[in-house]
Amino acid sequence: MRVLLAGGAGYVGTHTAISLLEAGHEPVMLDDLSNTSSVVIDRIAEITGARVPLVVGDAADDEVVEGAFDAHGPFDAIVHFAAYKAVGESVAQPLSYYANNLDTTYALLRVGLVRGIRSFVFSSTGTVYSDPADLPFTEEATRNLVALSNPYSKSKLMNEQVLTDVQAAHPELNVTLLRYFNPVGAHASGLVGEDPKGTPNNLMPFVARVAVGALDEVGIFGDDYDTPDGTGQRDYIHVVDLAEGHVKALENAAPGTTAYNLGTGNPVSVRELVASFERAVGRELPKSVKPRRAGDLAATYCTPAKAEAELGWRATRTIDDMTRDVWNWQQKNPGGYEG
Ligand code: UD1
Repeated sequence: MRVLLAGGAGYVGTHTAISLLEAGHEPVMLDDLSNTSSVVIDRIAEITGARVPLVVGDAADDEVVEGAFDAHGPFDAIVHFAAYKAVGESVAQPLSYYANNLDTTYALLRVGLVRGIRSFVFSSTGTVYSDPADLPFTEEATRNLVALSNPYSKSKLMNEQVLTDVQAAHPELNVTLLRYFNPVGAHASGLVGEDPKGTPNNLMPFVARVAVGALDEVGIFGDDYDTPDGTGQRDYIHVVDLAEGHVKALENAAPGTTAYNLGTGNPVSVRELVASFERAVGRELPKSVKPRRAGDLAATYCTPAKAEAELGWRATRTIDDMTRDVWNWQQKNPGGYEG
């Protein structure tokens, strides 16, 4: 299968390109490199022996997308990773989040439909669910746009609606919505991984920076939640498991619009994640309890049973695999790709 990965040079896209190559497919990347580096192409070549073609440009621009089809098409499928994803920033800059995260979808659909793609796979998020009464979240759990706390999550749910409506009008197109839980980890080689710009907001990259000495201590945002150890629980998923989920979704794309949760189904607390990282590093890390972070739920985790039943996919990597691989990546790339 020949697959256009829009936003493909980012964290999840890079790992997906590797998994696609390993499964015998042909990925091509379209990326504006606003939040990543073209170094990923060299790293993927080191791992797989294959150089993935990269078109540098904006996936919201029809002419750029057409150029990618002209140069490297025809494509069987598009996977759409291209989005802004910082929750706090989305509250401060809603217009740019809605514009970018929706305009990319419009352009990719407009061009993809004319050029005859058969399937469209969309990077959605487990944060489309927000009602703790629904835990563990199935794909049918409540998705209530007005209940979502930030424009990032809303833009993802709005995209899901756009895709559902477009698919209904174009039954020849298969649409798959992949709702990611908390992607963490890195390729076992340590050659590719997550490279956030500036101080990370998310827990795993923050802990990694503390471990490498670039930040002073881990702040635990609240230890008085109604959870087993009082700290927040999340469904962390190894990015390589997540990447393999994309391959299975492409290989098993079904008529209509279908949503899948991609998570492990195992809630892991902040303290458990930090303890796992400490095992990987072989020493304790400085940490202290801080106030709760506004907008956080006590716990979010899914049931991934539908993806197992329909796609034959299941996450196999443990939290210790995730922290070990992040530590390996962090040590080999203390300044990220361009450090
Ligand atoms: C965040 C995003 C979510 C996105 C996901 C991707 C928010 C509100 N949500 O989810 O939209 O899809 O990342 O992985 O940002 N924590 C600490 N100390 C820290 C950082 C985090 O204790 O320095 C805690 C949080 O309170 C939470 C857990 O760690 O309980 C995970 O936080 P984080 O990694 O930011 O992910 P989410 O908030 O789940």
